[in-house]
Amino acid sequence: MKSQLSEEMLEFHAATIPGTESVLCEELRELGFASVRLNRGGIPFRGTMQDGWRACLQSRIAARIQVLLGRFPCRTPDDLYHGVQGIDWGTFLSPSQTLAVSAVSREDALSHSGFVALKVKDAIVDQLRQHVGTRPDVDREDADVRVFAHVANQKASIYLDLAGEPLNKRGYRKVAGEAPLRETIAAALLRMSGWDLETPLIDPMCGSGTLAIEAAMWAGNKAPGLLRERFGFERWANYDEEAADALRLLRGALRGAAKGTMPRMIASDRNADMVEAARQNARAAGVKLAFRTHDVLVHPPTGEKGFMITNPPYGQRLEMAPEFPHQLAAVLSRLHGWRIGILTGSPVYEQAISAKPLQAIEIPNGGLDCTFLLYDMP
Ligand SMILES: C[S@@+](CC[C@H](N)C(=O)[O-])C[C@H]1O[C@@H](n2cnc3c(N)ncnc32)[C@H](O)[C@@H]1O
Repeated sequence: MKSQLSEEMLEFHAATIPGTESVLCEELRELGFASVRLNRGGIPFRGTMQDGWRACLQSRIAARIQVLLGRFPCRTPDDLYHGVQGIDWGTFLSPSQTLAVSAVSREDALSHSGFVALKVKDAIVDQLRQHVGTRPDVDREDADVRVFAHVANQKASIYLDLAGEPLNKRGYRKVAGEAPLRETIAAALLRMSGWDLETPLIDPMCGSGTLAIEAAMWAGNKAPGLLRERFGFERWANYDEEAADALRLLRGALRGAAKGTMPRMIASDRNADMVEAARQNARAAGVKLAFRTHDVLVHPPTGEKGFMITNPPYGQRLEMAPEFPHQLAAVLSRLHGWRIGILTGSPVYEQAISAKPLQAIEIPNGGLDCTFLLYDMP
């Protein structure tokens, strides 16, 4: 793959957090990617490099998109070194650029991931030094080229990361709350909720507005990557003028696919500063929402039927009064016919709500084990 415009079919890996694999798989199939397979820890699919770009621009759930550069038998450090040297690194990386390598290893003889990363880095820089006389520097924070090595079952897989900054960094969050939800997790929850993109939707504890903004972007068919200034693949050595033109065309086509008509979507919070933050973020994202400064216990959602998807405080990162889950449960019990989705790190919400959850999906969020509880209120 000398040029990023090559028609060569490649294998990609869409990385995501545990619990969200099946919705990411569904999303990638819906976006028309080929050979999408459900797999723990991330979803493989196939396509050209431009399909990889499109995944970066269009996937709402993937945390990263990585392309497979090589897979080879690997039992020893030497196998790893020689396998990595078999890849033509000059295509992606020039000596004046910077490099970062990370690794995950489940192989006994190569059990230390830090050592695996170091060996891969050595093989790459040695190859460039042999070919051009100088070597690239390592930059862990802001590398031009990021390499991921995965070693398991006596095989090594070497990937290049297309995203650069993780894909949850959409570029619209100008103001964050105290415990903001990652954008990619918000998108996964919305898909898990079974929302049809038409029924009214409310987040009555919206904080910085992530769930409502992601819902509006999805309903409006706005590609989540369009606000990003750039992706990792734009920093590779083989990203040239022709590739930049092709990316501009792709961005334009995706921009043109956005829809104007939207369902009713409300973001509210009892904290006026948070509502203002959500308003600014929605403006930056280019979506229209209705905002209210409301306490959900005093102004519960109204309307015959709707989706309430929310991430209430649960006493870890944000204070929660002990009686709050019970008070909220009383409010929910009056929302007949509504679908309710609650992401929480506290078991008290499930105990307080008398209805039986349709699903309880475990999802790590902000370093905590959380559960997404989904209910159809009778
Ligand atoms: C975990 S944060 C939500 C974070 C949000 N998902 C985001 O991405 O920024 C919980 C929010 O619930 C709000 N909240 C707490 N009690 C509330 C109540 N009774 N009514 C409305 N909002 C409330 C807090 O002000 C806080 O912004």
